[in-house]
Amino acid sequence: MAKEPVRVLVTGAAGQIGYALVPMIARGIMLGADQPVILHMLDIPPAAEALNGVKMELVDAAFPLLKGCTGVNIAVMVGGFSRKEGMERKDVMSKNVSIYKSQAAAPNYKVLVVANPANTNALILKEFAPSIPEKNITCLTRLDHNRALGQISERLSVPVSDVKNVIIWGNHSSTQYPDVNHAKVQTSSKEKPVQFISTVQQRGAAIIKARKLSSALSAASSACDHIHDWVLGTPEGTFFSMGVYSDGSYNVPSGLIYSFPVTCRNGEWSIVQGLPIDEVSRKKMDLTAEELKEEKDLAYSCLS
Ligand code: NAD
Ligand code: LMR
Repeated sequence: MAKEPVRVLVTGAAGQIGYALVPMIARGIMLGADQPVILHMLDIPPAAEALNGVKMELVDAAFPLLKGCTGVNIAVMVGGFSRKEGMERKDVMSKNVSIYKSQAAAPNYKVLVVANPANTNALILKEFAPSIPEKNITCLTRLDHNRALGQISERLSVPVSDVKNVIIWGNHSSTQYPDVNHAKVQTSSKEKPVQFISTVQQRGAAIIKARKLSSALSAASSACDHIHDWVLGTPEGTFFSMGVYSDGSYNVPSGLIYSFPVTCRNGEWSIVQGLPIDEVSRKKMDLTAEELKEEKDLAYSCLS
């Protein structure tokens, strides 16, 4: 029997990530090849014509899984402004956090915040939308996670599918801690995948420098991976990184949206518990938590 369609909202759908993301959703990459989807695409009035162009292209692509629309189950919130060369992600704070405050009327569905500063936008959404269960509000650090997998694969010359369980701790920013201490790599190489932390931390800036635009195809693809694993589950023995509301695990202060290793079952994520944390890691995890606290204060000062 055909499945009931799932309704997916994409904000900022006329932008570059939106343009890469909506065909992936319509093709079944996010929710599966047998899952019909209804797409809601939201943007601001100046982008109306461009958004209509995206809609026309979706019709022209004749995606069999794509249906007509009402109501929403999943929201991928890309809407906002991106940083330019030389800016940090928190430099777009004042414009973007107010968007996430105003969109906090969102009802009870699974939310992935992509727009930067992603962790803090998600926190603002959570704090101004108390009716949404905190477990339903997440932010994208899967892009950093996938970047870490890609770097290890390149450095050790192994297929990316042979690399598992890297962790991105903390903020989707240059203070994030890409941690390989728990990674599993199928390789005979004795070389350790070191010296890659700053490459992963700075990858977003390197892409802006090269493209003069921020990452879009990798961001869209990672957003699909994030929702796919959240809804359909993580493979046995595998975890991935997700920005979620801290419950104090690993002594990360609660009240922050922080990236942790998670597994997913039956549409629910859980933080992987009990991983040993050495002193070097502890310092890096605390540093990125400190930055998130500062961003939270800055966000509230932008909103007041
Ligand atoms: P873009 O400028 O191409 O598109 C953004 C779209 O958002 C535009 O169409 C704009 O009109 C729309 N928009 C602005 N305000 C809005 C509002 N209030 N409601 C709905 N839509 C609104 O930018 P992009 O390259 O698609 O990037 C979008 C965001 O994602 C940026 O903040 C970027 O920094 C961030 N990003 C995050 C990650 C991540 O891993 N978390 C990765 C890449 C980009
Ligand atoms: C990225 O990581 O590519 C995005 O967050 C865009 C940026 O500003 O770096």
